[in-house]
Amino acid sequence: MRIAILKETRDKETRVAASPETVKKLVAAGHALVIEAGAGDHAATPDSLFVSAGAEITKDAKAALKGAELVLKVRRPSAEELKLVPKGAGVVAFWNPHGDKALIEEAAKAGIIALSMEFTPRITRAQAMDALSSQANLAGYRAVIEGAALYGRGFPMMMTAAGTVAAAKCFVMGAGVAGLQAIATARRLGAIVTATDVRPASKEQVASLGAKFIAVEDDEFKAAETAAGYAKPMSAEYQAKQAILVGEHIAKQDVVITTALIPGRPAPVLVTPQMVAKMKPGSVVIDLAVEQGGNCPLSKADEIVVTDNGVTIAGFANLPGRLAADSSALYAKNLLNLLPLLTDEASKGFAPHFDDDIIKGMLLTRDGAVVHPSLISS
Ligand code: NAI
Repeated sequence: MRIAILKETRDKETRVAASPETVKKLVAAGHALVIEAGAGDHAATPDSLFVSAGAEITKDAKAALKGAELVLKVRRPSAEELKLVPKGAGVVAFWNPHGDKALIEEAAKAGIIALSMEFTPRITRAQAMDALSSQANLAGYRAVIEGAALYGRGFPMMMTAAGTVAAAKCFVMGAGVAGLQAIATARRLGAIVTATDVRPASKEQVASLGAKFIAVEDDEFKAAETAAGYAKPMSAEYQAKQAILVGEHIAKQDVVITTALIPGRPAPVLVTPQMVAKMKPGSVVIDLAVEQGGNCPLSKADEIVVTDNGVTIAGFANLPGRLAADSSALYAKNLLNLLPLLTDEASKGFAPHFDDDIIKGMLLTRDGAVVHPSLISS
């Protein structure tokens, strides 16, 4: 099939939905790869590398999309791009399904088969296609690197002739994929790490990485994980207890990394302005949830705010995009692993396996209609 890869246009996106490795494999599997010129420029992948891997480069998106059966993207297409996608073609991307329903309606009307990477089911068979995990892992790593760079002191304890540098105290809030990688990275840098989550399963994972677990472990905590592995929204009562525990702890921390999310909802507020007011001058908050409204109301997307009491609050909106070469390579591999479920084995044409649970989970639009249950009922 003819597969189009576009240069990302949204939100200063630096990633690209293909790597030379995946292009080579897709071409070897009998597909034609058509890539818009410059698509990999911000991910250390010039056009020449894609050409060497067997892709054709086109001058613009229109040329890349002409005759395409499948479009692979990082971000959902723009309204302009959508108009250029041939009827019946598939578009796989982070569609932001709960954030841009109007565009999904447009995709349905245009006869496009939209598949959302956010909705990849969290089952063992889909792990190699799970782009939320591959990107969150890199985001967690990068959050600590950014935090260490903004923190005006060292991370490891250093004993020198001129005196001792104390180890940084790093608190990771939300111990999912990003949080666990943040814990591991902060530990490698020598920080004293604590972490919190509302899912009981995370307690053991935090401990296995050598960090101390801090949480309100009541009956609600014991039932906070959904069948899909995500956290439930917590009650106001739980949040009040959590705020007291966290408030006391946070005042002693140097670097706080927040990663807490609840699918389809605004991020829970975990670090209130009152807590920030009690933090030490020079301490740093890195809010990974800023795109979903933030775990700290003071964080602003792509801004570094310094409060009156000297706390730096950074809200990098696209942390995976700050290591675009690695995040693109992993994302491209996720897509490559998904491709057999979108291909007719005999003809090699675009033919989504609509009966497969993974495709069922990811499918947003089909036959001119929005079909995903979470978009129909909400
Ligand atoms: P996420 O990005 O939706 O949320 C991040 C973390 O924030 C989660 O651990 C969540 O429990 C936590 N959180 C939510 N509300 C909170 C609150 N009020 N206070 C403190 N923490 C809060 O979750 P993520 O990282 O995408 O995955 C969560 C879990 O899903 C993983 O740890 C894992 O157990 C499971 N998973 C399973 C996979 C599979 O089996 N294929 C693949 C990836 C993840």
